[in-house]
Amino acid sequence: MKEELLTILRPYHQEHLLAFWDELDQEEQAHLAEQIKAIDLALITKMYAACCTETNHSQNTLLAEPPVAVRMGASTDVDQRAAEQAGLAALADGTVGVALVAGGQGSRLGFDHPKGMYPIGPISGSTLFDILFGKVIATRSRAKASVPIYLMTSPATHQETLAYLNREQNFGIPAAEIMVFCQGTMPAVDATNGKLLLKSKSSLFLSPDGHGGMLAALNRCEALRDMQRRGIKHLFYFQVDNPLATVCDPALIGHHILARSEYTLQVIAKQAPEDKVGNVVQLEGQTQIIEYSDLPAETANLRNPDGSLKLWAGSIAVHVFDVDFLCRLAVQRDALPIHYARKMVNFVDSDGKICQPIEPNAIKFEQFIFDLLPSASSTITVEVDPAMAFAPLKNGPGEKTDTAEHVQQQLMHFYRQTLRAAGLQVAETARVEIDPRFALTPGLLKNKIAAGSVIKDGTYVH
Ligand code: UD1
Repeated sequence: MKEELLTILRPYHQEHLLAFWDELDQEEQAHLAEQIKAIDLALITKMYAACCTETNHSQNTLLAEPPVAVRMGASTDVDQRAAEQAGLAALADGTVGVALVAGGQGSRLGFDHPKGMYPIGPISGSTLFDILFGKVIATRSRAKASVPIYLMTSPATHQETLAYLNREQNFGIPAAEIMVFCQGTMPAVDATNGKLLLKSKSSLFLSPDGHGGMLAALNRCEALRDMQRRGIKHLFYFQVDNPLATVCDPALIGHHILARSEYTLQVIAKQAPEDKVGNVVQLEGQTQIIEYSDLPAETANLRNPDGSLKLWAGSIAVHVFDVDFLCRLAVQRDALPIHYARKMVNFVDSDGKICQPIEPNAIKFEQFIFDLLPSASSTITVEVDPAMAFAPLKNGPGEKTDTAEHVQQQLMHFYRQTLRAAGLQVAETARVEIDPRFALTPGLLKNKIAAGSVIKDGTYVH
């Protein structure tokens, strides 16, 4: 077997992967052989060569314009109602599915589990999965139709997520309406010479292929076919880190349908040029997202005559895709470009010792789902109030933004607003929470609690 593997590796100068072959037992050899055979070495070589000559975004971002958008306040109530009606009709027809990306671990939060298991409910202590699945259940009940969930995990989160959901009986989602699938991986290479890195003597260093890996994974696990079979036409996409996401937002889905969009984005107006969100822009005749880390300060700071930010649209990573669009792109080679990140990666050196670098030594490869944007025949961007739809959990305690404490404050603010809109009384600082299964909207809440009722501090409405 060693000779066979060497024949595969030699043309790409990757023979070092077998440096410890003779020390491995049979099982370890089989594992390493399987990993090597699964890698497209020609592609890795091409990617490494390309990353060495990567073009710099900063040259053309000054030409970026804001996207064509449905702005808050600018769209009439009639437009908004029409969109909402169209979205609700699509949901009632059973033509909407949900894609939830949950490949991330809670390591940045000091939480050693899949991020979706993080307890975030301010009173209930419910996890992100519990709250988000609760919203899907509420959506199904309101639509009186099925809304299947396609949940993407990563190798690091897959087994634990499956076991957790099993234990919690999918929080009430019928087993026939949830598909949990694992994203793919990419090897990392030595930044100086493109050689693949070993994590141990018998395994390559592999990391998740980015949320863009969802496209290939949906195809691989036949989820796209499943959607077609069920008559799902629109896929509502969101991230596990945002418990305030308006899951299956009828207005967003409606705008998508009415505009005949193939790829629709929900955005917020950025408060400051340096906000850490992707920038939705129009560039070279296409809608695109430029990550905050790729947008030079000079461009981010451009302002309109009234002082507002020129590139105002911040992505909250909530999208609606047409399923036909995804099916078309899933079979296209190179549908998504590769992004390169220089990272510190522990590796086994030529002496067989584990090296812990003190500066970035490796290149990791990732794909981003939003790079599908330029391939869409039509796109639309819809603004939403961040207080109603965006509270991302990204950072551990003590950080300035996006910590669990910030998220809980935002959630409670949203719940107080919802209670008041339903005609209930609640103090300005009251700690309150609503289980989405109990009532998703003020209208639904009104039907269940008498107007004028007083909601006390510390109440979990469920
Ligand atoms: C992301 C977006 C940013 C957006 C922000 C909103 C990217 C590159 N940037 O930033 O434009 O404004 O969210 O909150 O996406 N994930 C996987 N598998 C992977 C990588 C990520 O499932 O291989 C999932 C994570 O679980 C997470 C989400 O994708 O739910 C976002 O990934 P992350 O890398 O944390 O992106 P951000 O920097 O937060």
